[in-house]
Amino acid sequence: MAKNSKNLFGEENLDIESIERAKTIPSRWYYEPEFFNFEQDHLFTNHWQFICHEARIQEPGDSYTTDIAQNPVIVLRTADHEVKAFFNVCKHRGGPLAVKKGTKTVLQCQYHGWTYLDDGSLRGIPDWNLVELFDKKDFGLEAVEIKIWQGLIFARINPQTPKLSSLLSGIEERIAPINLGALQFHSEHIYDVECNWKVYVDNYLEGYHIPIVHPELANLLDYRAYVTETETWHSLQHSPFKAKESVYSQDGGEAFYYFIFPNMMLNILPGRLQINKVVPVSPKKCKVIFSYFYDNVQAKQESGLIDEDIAYSHDIQLEDVEICEAVQRGL
Ligand code: FES
Ligand SMILES: [Fe+2]
Repeated sequence: MAKNSKNLFGEENLDIESIERAKTIPSRWYYEPEFFNFEQDHLFTNHWQFICHEARIQEPGDSYTTDIAQNPVIVLRTADHEVKAFFNVCKHRGGPLAVKKGTKTVLQCQYHGWTYLDDGSLRGIPDWNLVELFDKKDFGLEAVEIKIWQGLIFARINPQTPKLSSLLSGIEERIAPINLGALQFHSEHIYDVECNWKVYVDNYLEGYHIPIVHPELANLLDYRAYVTETETWHSLQHSPFKAKESVYSQDGGEAFYYFIFPNMMLNILPGRLQINKVVPVSPKKCKVIFSYFYDNVQAKQESGLIDEDIAYSHDIQLEDVEICEAVQRGL
């Protein structure tokens, strides 16, 4: 444990109890800045983090930016159609990068315009002639390690993290013949939520609140048959559909609601995928990024199904946001 962890955990009883006797974690873990910083340094730094689906960066020069444990990261489709990720930090004075206008895959700093090739090497320094003073090859972008599973790009910044395969073990077999990598991207929606990221995750992980918070969802799902299965690094919640005519049951098949430790959800329904990523912003704030994917965006758009799906999820999300923010105040 880290040097300050004694103060953080000192008085708490962290023994694992049987589920009937289990207690929630201490309230202060949901709001204390020290605990928030501890999580950034020891939790988010030490686990694979979801970046985005490959469908977001299909063509050379497509890029996506995000943060991992508060480190800015840019992921890019290179001229050779590879996926590469770098810390989104210019070696001059830390500016953010973007693909340079008029080029395909040259990254340009948005501060003073240094440029980098898609392998991260420094290429150009505007208005600087004294090149003999330093060697460009010492000033390339820092690469971030990535792995792609079913089209989903994950990154890690500590090579000691548990294996990605152990995080996701069994999911591919369980959802077959669904292949998440074959889906098309539709849209991304970001929700700013006034609660600690764990309040949001806790809420996702239990179906207990469905009858009270989401009465409409309770009509759709067979709540009595709701099941949660747990694995080492992920869990699966599922329930049969009650209503045969809903937007979710008309294609038949099953729904899988996966939580992947520590902050990602995969909501897999017939012909569609909704990914949620919960990004800690401050001790009492998080950002939840929803992205929507479909097997055939055009056909589903024409049938009105996508609008219906997103509007339905948005309403459920607002109910969750309201209860999570109230819980944060309670904590
Ligand atoms: S910080 Fe990037 S060019 Fe100056
Ligand atoms: Fe909910």
